[in-house]
Amino acid sequence: MTVLAVVVHRDAQLLARAVAARLITRLVDVQAERGEASLVLTGGGVGTSVLTEVAHSPARDAVDWQRLDVWWGDERYLPPGHEERNETSARAALLDTVGLDPDRAHPMPADDGAEPEQAADAYAAALQAVARPHDGGSVPSFDVLLLGLGEDGHVASLFPGMPALDDERPVVAVRDAPKPPPIRLTFTLPAIRTAREVWVVAAGAGKADAARLALDDAAPVQVPAARARGRNRTLWLLDQAAAAQFP
Ligand code: 6PG
Repeated sequence: MTVLAVVVHRDAQLLARAVAARLITRLVDVQAERGEASLVLTGGGVGTSVLTEVAHSPARDAVDWQRLDVWWGDERYLPPGHEERNETSARAALLDTVGLDPDRAHPMPADDGAEPEQAADAYAAALQAVARPHDGGSVPSFDVLLLGLGEDGHVASLFPGMPALDDERPVVAVRDAPKPPPIRLTFTLPAIRTAREVWVVAAGAGKADAARLALDDAAPVQVPAARARGRNRTLWLLDQAAAAQFP
């Protein structure tokens, strides 16, 4: 059975701190149970604030950073080290400050001249290489998959009305994203939905309409966030401004 829950915090800063605390606890629990854990990161302001708060948490090193696999749910297809890559922000906010095993950090490919479709296929192959039979598909069962929320209801780089939203491959290239930069790599919904837990994290009044729409039972299929669900649990973690339009 999959559970959907909404948790609302007072403001964006408290939200980031609370999600950071929740994330540390979840990773510690999974590592205690299975010896290792896997996490899928998102870009965006809130996603990066959560990583910053993890870095500053006194409980940070309760996580065994050597036994954590880190993946990305989407990426801006830009040259290696570009400051607007999600990887660059995540490394600066957290990953470069903890003793992550470099072999367990799995950034999406950067633009080195290859076609983005080739890069998407390469990332799909990397996922397939570590998927186990019990994962039941071509993507490992991630423990926690973080998603930001766009004002238009996008998650990862799955934008409303675009073909990527209904693609069955786990990772695809997007060439005409409405938000810059236009070329991106993204998990599709089937890949997102393999995660045990999906956490959608959003702050600010600009997200209120998208959050209300996505959580409405009658949400149109064009709202990507409405279709992002974890296998065991889906958590919507919001600040009061983002939750303001709920009945
Ligand atoms: C991007 C961002 C984007 C972001 C959401 C939420 O690649 O352009 O990653 O998808 O995650 O728009 O952004 P905020 O958390 O900054 O509101």
